[in-house]
Amino acid sequence: MATNKDLTKLPGHVAIIMDGNGRWARLRGLPRVMGHKEGVKAVRSVVRQARELGISVLTLYAFSSENWGRPRDEVNALMDLLYNYLESELDELLGNKIALKAIGEIEKLPDRVRKYLEETIKKTSVNKEMILNLALSYGGRAEIVRAAKVLAERCLRGEICPEDIDEGSFAGCLYTAGLPDPDLIIRTSGEERLSNFLLYQAAYAEIYITPTLWPDFGRDDFMAALYEYQKRERRFGLTAEQIS
Ligand code: IPE
Ligand code: IPE
Ligand code: MG
Repeated sequence: MATNKDLTKLPGHVAIIMDGNGRWARLRGLPRVMGHKEGVKAVRSVVRQARELGISVLTLYAFSSENWGRPRDEVNALMDLLYNYLESELDELLGNKIALKAIGEIEKLPDRVRKYLEETIKKTSVNKEMILNLALSYGGRAEIVRAAKVLAERCLRGEICPEDIDEGSFAGCLYTAGLPDPDLIIRTSGEERLSNFLLYQAAYAEIYITPTLWPDFGRDDFMAALYEYQKRERRFGLTAEQIS
């Protein structure tokens, strides 16, 4: 088991459910969009910190399949913020050798956002220091259903038999194909649920929930989550004796 506060023992893949922007704004009598704007600053900070610490993959849940159902003004504002974020971060991603990836139904994003996202993914694809993986228009159930369809089509074409389907080939049809499962999932704003995030991949993730609202999530909050992770004993179904 990892000892407490050992920065050589960090999770390889951290995934964050960035929640609480609306409440952050409401507490200040501001419109919800102001909470999202402030949330972008927390995104910049956590990306920089993850890179400094040497975390390999950082997945950020930025927009869920269900978030499309929010008021149109809020959805539009979120799409604009995403576009502006990508535009402003390109140099930072290139300078720090961070590769951008996206998971989710990105074909549903407005054209200019999708195009810019795809260009940024391409421009940063050779970067090897860290993967910044944005979950956009992402839903875990839709992802699983999509994988089932891909495999069913392969069976129908005679490329594989049902017996060939196993956890490895199934995972290979998810958006996260090629990425390790998340070791640590952080959720801000105190909500104790996954909200359709990485349902398949989260099987053995450690979950850390903090009451801090996303725009207030700073460097100390991230370190607190990482230190808490180091105290956990990951048993993967085995006994404590087997693990040690
Ligand atoms: C998270 O903050 C950002 C997105 C879901 C896009 P919320 O907007 O969900 O904030 P709360 O939960 O209403 O406070
Ligand atoms: C989850 O937050 C989605 C993102 C953080 C992008 P929500 O605010 O949409 O989740 P619920 O509705 O509280 O479950
Ligand atoms: Mg929320």
